[in-house]
Amino acid sequence: MKGLEGKSIIVTGGGSGIGEAVSLMLGEAGCLVTVADLDADKAQAVAAAIGEAGGTAQAVRVDVADEASVSAMTQTAASRFGRLDGACNAAGVPQRGKALHEIELGEWDACHAVNLRGLFLCNKHEIRAMLDKGGAIVNIVSTSAMVGFPNGSEYCASKAGAMGLTRGAAIDYATKGIRINAVLPGGTLTPMLKGAMAVDPGLEGALAAVHPMNRFGHPSEIAGAVRWLLSDEASFATGASFAIDGGHTSI
Ligand SMILES: NC(=O)c1ccc[n+]([C@@H]2O[C@H](COP(=O)([O-])OP(=O)(O)OC[C@H]3O[C@@H](n4cnc5c(N)ncnc54)[C@H](O)[C@@H]3O)[C@@H](O)[C@H]2O)c1
Repeated sequence: MKGLEGKSIIVTGGGSGIGEAVSLMLGEAGCLVTVADLDADKAQAVAAAIGEAGGTAQAVRVDVADEASVSAMTQTAASRFGRLDGACNAAGVPQRGKALHEIELGEWDACHAVNLRGLFLCNKHEIRAMLDKGGAIVNIVSTSAMVGFPNGSEYCASKAGAMGLTRGAAIDYATKGIRINAVLPGGTLTPMLKGAMAVDPGLEGALAAVHPMNRFGHPSEIAGAVRWLLSDEASFATGASFAIDGGHTSI
């Protein structure tokens, strides 16, 4: 793909699911990948897999809810690979599977600390590292930013905020060479979705019924869209929300 080889790119949540698929795909494309995750072992395993396949990667432990940790992540990427050209922000946590009146304030805050505050912190420090030379950011949001689902109001709210952040930030940097887009996956078979379905037995049937393709996505089907958005082929795309969702949001 045009304009990807040699780019230094951070993937948060890179140790699992969608972030793992993005990291592996970028490694194959010749990017210099910083695989960043709260789970250092998983990040290390993905970075090692990229290296074994002939690519270049480093693993970094990050807590996206912590500003010092996020700042250190961007500095580590820039110092190891000389610069930062792009980022895919995929770190996220799921809903607790409760109706709104049952959600404790601490549960609400824990979701937003990662999915929204964490996204803000990542975009802030990634943008700072890109201000001189430009770059591209892809925020992994969710179709839940556009449509609700049962027992997930805190998650839906965090993802609607993430879509708004993407739009607002894209405008701020549209003339500064930094493109910022959102990818909205529909139900995608990752450890997060499998875990959420295990906690809430009604979720699998409810979700399957709202995907016209009558199946869930594979992480690589989301990663392909991210790869394009990070490449120079997407040079006129910014502030957009791309639903990769088997038709979910077309209903
Ligand atoms: N799987 C789906 O159906 C689906 C659908 C729409 C959106 N998404 C979104 O896609 C993204 C990736 O989800 P996934 O399904 O691959 O989940 P996953 O659980 O497989 O991966 C999420 C990763 O984020 C990491 N993480 C969690 N908290 C973190 C923190 N504070 N700092 C750094 N890393 C942290 C986890 O360790 C994990 O490796 C999330 O933002 C999720 O909300 C997923």
